[in-house]
This record gives sequence, C-alpha cells and structure tokens, in this order.
Amino acid sequence: MFSKEIYTNRRNRLKSKISTGIALFMGNVDVGMNYADNTYHFRQDSTFLYFFGLDYQGLAGIIDFESGEEILFGDDFTIDDIIWMGPQPLLKENAARVGISYTHPFGKLNNLISKAISQGRKIHFTPPYRGKNIITLSELLNILPAQVKEQASLKLINACIALRSIKEPCEIEEMERQMQTAYRMHTTAMKMAHVGNSEQQITGAVEGISMSGGGMVSFPVICSVRGETLHNHYHGNTLKQGDLLLLDAGSESPLHYATDHTRTSPVGGKFTPKQRDIYQIVLDANNNAAAGTKPGITYKEVHLLAARTIALGLKDLGLMKGDVDEAVAAGAHALFMPHGLGHMIGLDVHDMEDYNDTLVGYDEETQRSTQFGLAALRLGRRLQPNFVVTNEPGIYFIPALINQWNAEGKFANFINYNKFESYKTFGGIRLEDDILITETGSRILGNRIPIDPDEVEKIVMSGLEN
Ligand code: GLY
Ligand code: MN
Repeated sequence: MFSKEIYTNRRNRLKSKISTGIALFMGNVDVGMNYADNTYHFRQDSTFLYFFGLDYQGLAGIIDFESGEEILFGDDFTIDDIIWMGPQPLLKENAARVGISYTHPFGKLNNLISKAISQGRKIHFTPPYRGKNIITLSELLNILPAQVKEQASLKLINACIALRSIKEPCEIEEMERQMQTAYRMHTTAMKMAHVGNSEQQITGAVEGISMSGGGMVSFPVICSVRGETLHNHYHGNTLKQGDLLLLDAGSESPLHYATDHTRTSPVGGKFTPKQRDIYQIVLDANNNAAAGTKPGITYKEVHLLAARTIALGLKDLGLMKGDVDEAVAAGAHALFMPHGLGHMIGLDVHDMEDYNDTLVGYDEETQRSTQFGLAALRLGRRLQPNFVVTNEPGIYFIPALINQWNAEGKFANFINYNKFESYKTFGGIRLEDDILITETGSRILGNRIPIDPDEVEKIVMSGLEN
C-alpha cells in the first residue's frame, strides 16, 4: 500500500469538503462462487481502498465530519482463521499502517450508526453495488434494501469524484508501472494471432500475464474475431486467415489500479487492403484524439474530433457522404462508432462508475447528450491536469444495426448503404490507449503498445519465429 500519509491526507481533504454528519465506508466481503467457502477472487471496494488502503475482507471505516474522528471497524483473526491463513496482524496494527488510531469490533458498528440516526445526523455513504453490502446497509440504517441506493449521499459522491479524478504522483507511478504488463499482454496476443490458435488460448495467455505481472485482469477480457460486438466475451472461435483479432484487455496493479488497452491484429500477419484502410482511419482518430487531449478542452470536444476523423475517412472510402460536420452533428457516424471515445481510469477501469457515470463524467457546464452514440460517452466534461483517461475510437460493421438503419432510411443523406455489401463480415477495429492529462497537454502512459500497422504486422509475424 502507499505510505500512511497518503491515506491520512486523502481523509483530511475529504473532511475539508464536508462539514456535517458521518461517512460510512463499507469494505467488501468474500462472495461464494458455487458454495460459500469457494469464493470469487477477492476485490476490495475502490472507495474503501482509496481512503483506508486495507485490502482484506470484513472492514468498515467511519469518518465523523464534526468531531474529526476516524474509526476502523473489523475483527481480529481467530485461531481458526490463522490455522487456514497463517499468522495475521492485529486489526490495530493494520489500522496504524493507514494512520487510524481507533478500532472497534465490527459488531459495534451498529451502535455507532443507531446513535447517529437517533441524533438525526446524516449518514453519508456511496451507492453499494454488491448484494451483501446492500443488505448490511439496509440493516444498519433500518431501511428496505430497495431504498439503500437512493439514500446514497450526493455530497459524499461529489467529494469523492473531486478527489479521485485528480491522480496523485504515487497513483500515476503505480499506473505507469503496470503499463509494462499491459504491453506484454497485448504484444503476446499479437504474436498469437495465427491461424489455428483459439480465442480461448489467447485469453488464457493474456490473463496469465496479468496475474504474473501484478494482479487479475481489470475487467473480463474481450478477445474476439467478431470485434464488431463491442463487449464480446465469447471465446469459442478458432482464428482463420483473413480474420481481425480484437483484444480489449487490462490488468490490475498490486494496489488495484487498472490498465485498459485495445489493439486489433491481422490474423496471419498481413492486413488486407480493406482492413488497412479502416485501420488507418481508426489510427488517425486515435492520434488526433491524443493530440487534442489537453487541459481546458471538454472531453466531448475530443470525442467529436475523433468522430469527425472517422466520418472524413469513411467519406473518402465512399461509405459516408455529404458534409462531414453536419453528419457528425446529426450523429450519423454512430452507425460505425456507437460508443464514446473513452472514460476515466484509475482504481476502476471505468473509474468511479459505481457512483454513477453521469455524475463522474458530466457537470453543470457539460450535460450528457441523449443522441444515439454521443449518449454512450461516459466522460464529457472539461479535462484537468492529472486526469487519466482512455481514448478508444473504433469502427465497426454491425449487421443488425446497418440493416435496421437501412430499412428505416436513417441518415440516407450521409450514409451510402449500397456500399456495404463487401463489408458485411468485416468485423470491427478499436485502438485504445491510456492517457495522462499534463499541465500543457497529455501523454500516453507507459511505452505505447505497438499501433502502427506495419509494426503490428511485424510483431504478429514474429510470433512464428518461436
Ligand atoms: N475496455 C472496456 C471498456 O472500456 O468498456
Ligand atoms: Mn476502455
């Protein structure tokens, strides 16, 4: 974990933003996979990690905004636990590592919360997303489980967003270190992009590299020759000549900071001319977006910059037509890129999305659009130094969507539906980097994973050498 001053400072900064009530931070507990003792890999809650740093089960943190008191609730390990888990520090010792002096048994949390409720004090908490914590909060607060989320504290959410959006130097260093693992995950997949290998084998190799490089994957791996399905978790295909392999995968650092990259490789090592044309447009969109990603600009503008690059490129290929600016303003390009350009990344791959993605990505100045495509943009607001975002433009040929729009005659003034026949089985291309906003611009974190099409071809071919 980071030094205890980091956690103490974070809690102090939070205290400077809220003056009344108490905040309750629920850590996560184990979840049974197929029976209680056979659990999913444990993942601590990100807000708890941010303020309390401790990466194990059964903890809750309290900050009293009026008295300034900070308390960690949890239980010491029993001799039974120690037989199965080995020697463990005391709760008090763990608390001291993150600058907390007061600890109580978990069972005492109820007394503190009941007393605060009886005094009419506000209990601030962020929206829970796991069943167990929804039930625990419902019992502590004496409300129905269905009422828990709606009683989450907007004040606490906004304060957490303000703090966590700006990455500290220690966080940037941690993220940057993990980029080496991301690099190996993606270049290994490129080398495996050969006829006869399966999506499952490549997924396994990528997950193994993540594990050996620090932690589990930061979200379920998307590894598919059907890249037009945006979150394709089916891994049953065997690679064929002419396929494009899309890998969208990330790794968690030892302290649970995420990476998230996408690369698209030609199976066998040579893009067809058609694939290369589309790839180059996506690469131009990625590079233009990277150049446009800087403090002071809204991320919505960066998204629209990428969208214009895509529309212009597709117009050159004859797939779109008409005025590019008008097409993008109308949302016609969303046939090819129905998702947003990117999102914040940090302790979560879609950072802080448990709070609500509109609260994280938008503000009074920049409101979320309802237009198809633009509505899917998770981050729209003005960028500030030390935000970390992903830029992930893509072009997809989604038969169901093309057929639907064609049947409706949708945007027939901007889209040449008669040119689609030879693209029906094309698939999709997405290219994603993780970017730090600096004082003057931005920079890609870590060594950039190979993205130039010639270099990608070379790396795929190099996979045949061993
Ligand atoms: N890389 C997965 C996503 O951003 O949704
Ligand atoms: Mn992403």
